Amino acid sequence: MISFLTKFLKKSKPQKRRGLLVDIHSHLLPGIDDGSKTTYESVKMIKLYEKMGYKKLITTPHIMWHRYRNSSEIILEKLEYLKDALADHEVEIELEAASEYYLDENFAKLLEKKDILTFGENYLLFEMSYTRAPKDLREIVFDIETAGYKPVLAHPERYIFMHEDFGNYEELKELGVFFQLNLNSLAGQYSKNVQKIAMELAERGMIDFLGSDVHKISQLETLKKVLASQTLQQIFEKNDILNNRLL
Ligand SMILES: [Fe+2]
Repeated sequence: MISFLTKFLKKSKPQKRRGLLVDIHSHLLPGIDDGSKTTYESVKMIKLYEKMGYKKLITTPHIMWHRYRNSSEIILEKLEYLKDALADHEVEIELEAASEYYLDENFAKLLEKKDILTFGENYLLFEMSYTRAPKDLREIVFDIETAGYKPVLAHPERYIFMHEDFGNYEELKELGVFFQLNLNSLAGQYSKNVQKIAMELAERGMIDFLGSDVHKISQLETLKKVLASQTLQQIFEKNDILNNRLL
């Protein structure tokens, strides 16, 4: 664990470096959640992803009924709009959209209607309260799977209520939940505790996807450092990371 931590930010040898080509979690569609505010900002951020070597971005605006009342239609319409803007600026990176679904009543209705934006082969990205477990989490996971989707928990390291007992994570994995780690958690963007849990999940080989979860330009600076770090290379060695299969 300690060696894993101390190696963070040490640059890996370029010839051995494995790169991340696909991102599956970000907030880059302008003006529909707490991410990018303008088209200008979105284009600027996406150019930076391109510079860092990404080939495809699957951006995931929030659908969270008490804050961001988005729908598949709103997201897909905004996606087309942004793709046009990218073409105007000759940005060639591939852009797709899914959503980061908050587990609420609206989500249950969308699931029932199968009105869900997925990525890859039916992966469904979801999040929940950081402080309190949904009382019927097992049931919700079961409903997602029964509907034919593969549940991907966004940033498992950020749920404070799960930190005390690692069994919480093991239980979700046993239920078939995929884990998406936020890359910037490794650099301590959220808290020391979140960083520690992120490292531990990675050490135990429990990570399936890596995501940037970028909301604003400044977070891309941190992301750049994480992508160049030895820690990322160790994560690739210890975990079966699925991002690049989505190309
Ligand atoms: Fe997010």
